[in-house]
Amino acid sequence: MAYNNLKKALIGALVLSASSAAFAADKKPLMTGASAGMLANTCAGCHGTNGASAGPATPSIGGISAVYFEEVMAGFKDGSIKSTIMQRIAKGYSEDEIKAMAELFSKQPFVMAKQSFDADKAKKGAKLHDKYCEKCHAENGTSAEDDSGILMGQLTPYLHYTMTDYKAGDREMTKKMKKKVNQMIKKEGDAGFDALLNFYAQGKQ
Ligand code: HEC
Ligand code: HEC
Repeated sequence: MAYNNLKKALIGALVLSASSAAFAADKKPLMTGASAGMLANTCAGCHGTNGASAGPATPSIGGISAVYFEEVMAGFKDGSIKSTIMQRIAKGYSEDEIKAMAELFSKQPFVMAKQSFDADKAKKGAKLHDKYCEKCHAENGTSAEDDSGILMGQLTPYLHYTMTDYKAGDREMTKKMKKKVNQMIKKEGDAGFDALLNFYAQGKQ
């Protein structure tokens, strides 16, 4: 008798928690812009207002594609993309919440950082970009359409750390990007990266 009551209570609790989970799942796709905005506000301390970073090494995320945003957040979460801070942050958000923030940030303009650069190196970098990167980082690395991340006008220290992680294998490159990057390294060495970073530092002219 006592056992049966316990069982009933347990089943009752299970049904209750299952139905409240279903309710929560139903509710999430209806998340309002204000809720997404509130979530995104917690990012502003590091990524700047509307995702336009004030630096020094935190990337700008306003205007990046929603697809890329979701991919990179998933990568932070499962550790396949190395990060200093974002793994802990990404783990705090559900897929639906990340989707909502991805939509919101993708609608903001990407604000190019104003940075100093070496004009000769930038010139060389432009040629290297055309040869090795433009195919997937279109329109001189300004386009978000290709879902590969925006390079032009992104903060140089961030790009520097990211390329270092790619080279070290701490962040996996797609097979095709790896092929191109390796071709470039073989021909140009580290000076090639330096030239590319100066090119991206100039921002769109
Ligand atoms: C304490 C500072 C900090 C906060 C808060 C923060 N970020 Fe980040 N974010 C970083 C840093 C630093 C990186 C670079 C990766 C790393 O080292 O963690 C980054 C990288 C990213 C990237 C990858 C950008 C790219 O070009 O690949 C995305 C997307 C991102 N953050 C989204 C968010 C979102 C969404 C929030 C709020 C929910 C947030 N971040 C809050 C510091 C922060
Ligand atoms: C065959 C397509 C392809 C080529 C060629 C390519 N990339 Fe990428 N790149 C991608 C994709 C896809 C991503 C996003 C996925 C990932 O790696 O996380 C990316 C991401 C990046 C990122 C990270 C952006 C961010 O915001 O964190 C950098 C930096 C980058 N690429 C630099 C380069 C450079 C420099 C070259 C040329 C030497 C290059 N890529 C060539 C496809 C390519």
